[in-house]
Amino acid sequence: MTHPLNLADATDLSRTPIDVAAVLDHLVREADAAAATSIGFPGAVDLDHTEVMTRLGGRLWNNIGDPADTGGVAHTRALERAVITWVADLLAMPADDRWGYVSSGGTEGNLSALHALHRRDPTARIYYSTAAHYSVPKVVRLLGARGVSVQAQPDGEMDYTHLAAQLRRRRRWPATVVATAGTTMTEAVDDTGRIRAVLDEHHAGGHLHVDAALSGIPLALDGRLRLDDASGISSIAVSGHKFFGVPTPCGIVLIRDHLRIHGSRVAYTATADTTITGSRCGLAAALLWHAIATHGREGHRWRATAARRLAAYTTDRLSAAGWPAWRHPHAFTVVLPTPPEQVRRKWLLATDGDTSHLICMPGITRGQVDAFVADVAAATAPPPIPRPRPATPTPTSVPAR
Ligand SMILES: Cc1ncc(COP(=O)(O)O)c(C=O)c1O
Repeated sequence: MTHPLNLADATDLSRTPIDVAAVLDHLVREADAAAATSIGFPGAVDLDHTEVMTRLGGRLWNNIGDPADTGGVAHTRALERAVITWVADLLAMPADDRWGYVSSGGTEGNLSALHALHRRDPTARIYYSTAAHYSVPKVVRLLGARGVSVQAQPDGEMDYTHLAAQLRRRRRWPATVVATAGTTMTEAVDDTGRIRAVLDEHHAGGHLHVDAALSGIPLALDGRLRLDDASGISSIAVSGHKFFGVPTPCGIVLIRDHLRIHGSRVAYTATADTTITGSRCGLAAALLWHAIATHGREGHRWRATAARRLAAYTTDRLSAAGWPAWRHPHAFTVVLPTPPEQVRRKWLLATDGDTSHLICMPGITRGQVDAFVADVAAATAPPPIPRPRPATPTPTSVPAR
């Protein structure tokens, strides 16, 4: 019989010797055991990244500086440039007005883009909805900028009437609006056309950044998210570990070239300081490149379609089981009233008060969905009607002896 590992003791670096293999085995075993019931967070699990991890995972790949830099020994900037070009093409971004890099995640993408826009318009108020990711107000604070909160509708999409009212009140100041393509809880997509129209009415020339951490790639594959000239969108941030399921946190940020920051040259690295972090993960760029190279647009379109089909199936099954679920038509995310505690102990959902969600990312199976729905149905079924018990004879008094 194996004894459960006490992780705090086993990892304590002041104790030697340390059984490193036991610790690593434990981590893998725990993650494997949790995988089947982890359905609340948006990391795709269908792609096989082992070729890159095996071939490149054993050394440092540092894409320090700008993706266009060529110096350094072990870097993957050529792959990074290919990733940036593929995503920018997918978004129909003008070839002569685009720049971007592989970041450490959606958060860094938001920081990089909003930093660039803030540098151009330091007095601009930055508007974002109450359904925006927590990284957006954090970035606003980091920049020392002024943020303005805009109400979201109950389904998570921005309230454009409230946006117009907030802009009207601050006409004196330039404006940058952050739209979300795939809000964290309901995967709502703000209508960038409507935002642009409201923005132009009140602040011609204001900027529009899209936080598209989850839905950026799927919507671009549909042709529903474009950064062409007509879109009036200045920048976009996408997470790499969500739809592409890359096994290390990463992201992609794209900014119109005429708006971005042209950093100074750093002599000792012979690179341009254009990115938020100096050293950058070259392995992430290689993993993204591999995911794109091995599946192409058609393969990824197919993955998005299959995931949405499963999300539609999940919504129907939950509703049929008496647990009213809903989703936006484009979404992988299924929103439902928070199930009872016993269900949440087993299934890793994302819960915010009385609302929860599961996300049918590529790789989640119909079997997992069926098992989850069965658990919800069992936990919420009305208690069985008690069977009538045979009548017990009324106790007769026993005469005292
Ligand atoms: C809408 C949105 N923006 C940004 C982020 C942050 O992305 P990352 O975790 O890649 O930094 C998330 C993460 O869930 C998100 O849902």
